[in-house]
Amino acid sequence: MVGILEDKDRIFLNLYGLRGADLESAKKRGCWNATKDMLDMGRDWVINQTKASGLRGRGGAGFSTGLKWSFMPKEVKDRPHYLVVNADESEPGTCKDREIMRHDPHLLIEGCLIASFAMQAHAAYIYLRGEYVREREVMEQAVKEAYAAKLIGKDNVHGWDFDVYIHHGAGAYICGEETALLESLEGKKGQPRLKPPFPAGAGLYGCPTTVNNVESIAVVGTILRRGSDWFAGMGRPNNTGTKLMCISGHVNKPCNVEEVMSIPLKQLLEEHCGGVIGGWKNLKAVIPGGSSVPMITAEQCETALMDFDSLRELKSGLGTAAVIVMDKSTDLVKAIARLSYFYKHESCGQCTPCREGTGWMWRVMERMVRGEAEMKEIDLLLDVTTQVEGHTICALGDAAAWPIQGLFRHFRGEVEERITNYRAGRPHVQGASLAAE
Ligand SMILES: Cc1cc2nc3c(=O)[nH]c(=O)nc-3n(C[C@H](O)[C@H](O)[C@H](O)COP(=O)(O)O)c2cc1C
Ligand code: SF4
Repeated sequence: MVGILEDKDRIFLNLYGLRGADLESAKKRGCWNATKDMLDMGRDWVINQTKASGLRGRGGAGFSTGLKWSFMPKEVKDRPHYLVVNADESEPGTCKDREIMRHDPHLLIEGCLIASFAMQAHAAYIYLRGEYVREREVMEQAVKEAYAAKLIGKDNVHGWDFDVYIHHGAGAYICGEETALLESLEGKKGQPRLKPPFPAGAGLYGCPTTVNNVESIAVVGTILRRGSDWFAGMGRPNNTGTKLMCISGHVNKPCNVEEVMSIPLKQLLEEHCGGVIGGWKNLKAVIPGGSSVPMITAEQCETALMDFDSLRELKSGLGTAAVIVMDKSTDLVKAIARLSYFYKHESCGQCTPCREGTGWMWRVMERMVRGEAEMKEIDLLLDVTTQVEGHTICALGDAAAWPIQGLFRHFRGEVEERITNYRAGRPHVQGASLAAE
């Protein structure tokens, strides 16, 4: 067997699109099976089961999904409740929600119905990133099928009137931040809102709203069908269930795979991805959770587990579980400078530390790539990252600061060497130190 997850415990049975995405095929895989029985158990049961499963949000922050649902008002008063599904998926390296929407859209629609019922929402909006045109088409087709089969809509077989709307974004990373997403959905410029109020108090159109990631919602039907104990029994306490992981970069076989939470990172790379190009010894660093989290070293990869707690202990994070592998041929300074450019480009410009800081950090990083900097600028740069981090309206500021901090935490010597060489008139040649080893 490859990896840890057994086929019998797989949630995404069509991850690779080998079978149909249509309703009949989805039903054969178990989707829409006993959904009414789940709703008949009542709202509290749905929320308590979701809590007990230990499911934590798959969009990056890892907040308990059941707990988040319980923050919605217990009674519907003058304002309707909404579920909003975050399908913006723009974090570099991340391509898991895309596969769900392409190949298993009914899991997502079923999850929307269950979650909406639990929060007394009669409507859900699925907000897709601008580039996901094919995914939108598949989702729209699946929604049509679900209406035609009376699985959703007015007077549907589940007894909970429920509409699903597919909304296509225009392609901006910041619209993945939940409140920017709500602004965009309302037809405004996608800029994050100040919190509080949180969406559960005042979200879409000022109404109680919960925003959840695609994967968080798509797993709910199977969790309730099979029982929270089953899901909670995989992984480690506080890090339960299965998780879609996307592995890219210097591995022999980049892939998306559903695995047990807490699988050792090394096992993930060796067994699912054909190992690091040139062998494990050729590994230099890994960004384990999408471009926003700090990198970890090859040595740390020996023992790291792919879960929230293990990666936090290594001062990184599980994020979206998008693993970016970098071998010894990688110019890490250049790689991080490229990410700095990304964050500068995607900053919405509302708050000064992010608007000015991301540009400033990127420009300094570009000079560091060439070694064209002064030694004291390293500490200055790190100081600026701490002034951006935690001082902005949304977490894009943190996301811009962390990759730089990770680089200097582990590879400061490389940048110093580059600066020394530049000042001595010796150009930097990537791989020169490797050849000398
Ligand atoms: C700059 C930025 C971009 C984000 N992009 C996404 C995204 O593309 N998809 C996503 O699900 N969450 C994204 N998030 C996290 C959301 O704000 C939110 O926490 C998440 O959708 C909640 O869902 P969950 O609890 O199911 O994880 C982003 C956050 C920030 C700060
Ligand atoms: S941190 Fe950056 S992206 Fe977020 S609101 Fe402020 S300026 Fe906009």
